[in-house]
Amino acid sequence: MTLDDFSQYARHRVDSYLAQHLNEYKPATHLQDAMAYSLFNGGKRVRPMLTYAAASLFGEVNDLTDASAAAIESIHAYSLIHDDLPAMDDDNLRRGKPTSHIKYDEATAILAGDALQTFAFELLSQAKHKNAVLQLQLIQELTQSSGRHGMVTGQMIDLASVGKNIDVQALEEMHQHKTGALIRASVRMGAISTGATTPADFAALDTYANAIGLAFQVQDDIIDITSDTSTLGKTQFSDEDANKPTYPKLLGLQGAQELAKSLHDQAVTSISPFGDAAQPLIELANYIIGRNH
Ligand code: IPE
Ligand code: IPE
Ligand code: MG
Ligand code: MG
Ligand code: MG
Repeated sequence: MTLDDFSQYARHRVDSYLAQHLNEYKPATHLQDAMAYSLFNGGKRVRPMLTYAAASLFGEVNDLTDASAAAIESIHAYSLIHDDLPAMDDDNLRRGKPTSHIKYDEATAILAGDALQTFAFELLSQAKHKNAVLQLQLIQELTQSSGRHGMVTGQMIDLASVGKNIDVQALEEMHQHKTGALIRASVRMGAISTGATTPADFAALDTYANAIGLAFQVQDDIIDITSDTSTLGKTQFSDEDANKPTYPKLLGLQGAQELAKSLHDQAVTSISPFGDAAQPLIELANYIIGRNH
């Protein structure tokens, strides 16, 4: 399967799962409308792709894989709504469209984010494929990566670092939390959902996921300066304007590009034990450091 085919397959699966479960409660409310706006306004679906690619290493994907992919994307959508709020990055443009608080209002945006966060756990706990042990593992994985041990702490460090000269180690700590943790969970939850993994599988996947998770945010920092606003779908130089510490600022553009490449190589090497089955994960690693939006 080419990356294009794989990405269409993953997008179709996760989008239908999200739509089906979001629309379970009729009639659509203002809140549901705002949730749908941020779920279906053109995200790349990188995290669900990683989930399906990791699951495919261990055989057929199942309903728990779909629930995992959808739950992670829902957490991601919530994190972006809150990230764009005036109290945080204060951005008006996301995916080429007005951010949630511009399209609606601040209160609606905050509440849509809140609801998307709990929607993720609703999906995991109510999945059709009942397996309490796996469901609990998936829920734990998502709480660890998205909450105080993961993304939220990363966002806290990000805001506390504005205007500061932090070193590379502190920057890596921030990036691993704010973005790396959820990317790592995307890979791990795909594997967990199959119920067919060994500790050795996780060791290999963790090295891949840590490297690619960090590379994802290094590339996000790079494209903030190398892609224009219409390509990005978000405002160019937003990090610069907000005085955020970034990899290009610390290492220079070329240094940041070299780091992304070396993380990519580390990721790809670590999954060689999976042989041909790892092809989608390899292609996703290529995509992550090659993307311009
Ligand atoms: C953007 O994530 C925010 C970061 C965590 C760097 P994505 O680049 O995956 O955003 P979408 O979902 O494709 O818009
Ligand atoms: C956001 O990082 C990470 C999140 C947890 C949402 P950024 O602030 O760099 O993301 P963009 O550039 O606004 O998408
Ligand atoms: Mg931010
Ligand atoms: Mg931002
Ligand atoms: Mg960014």
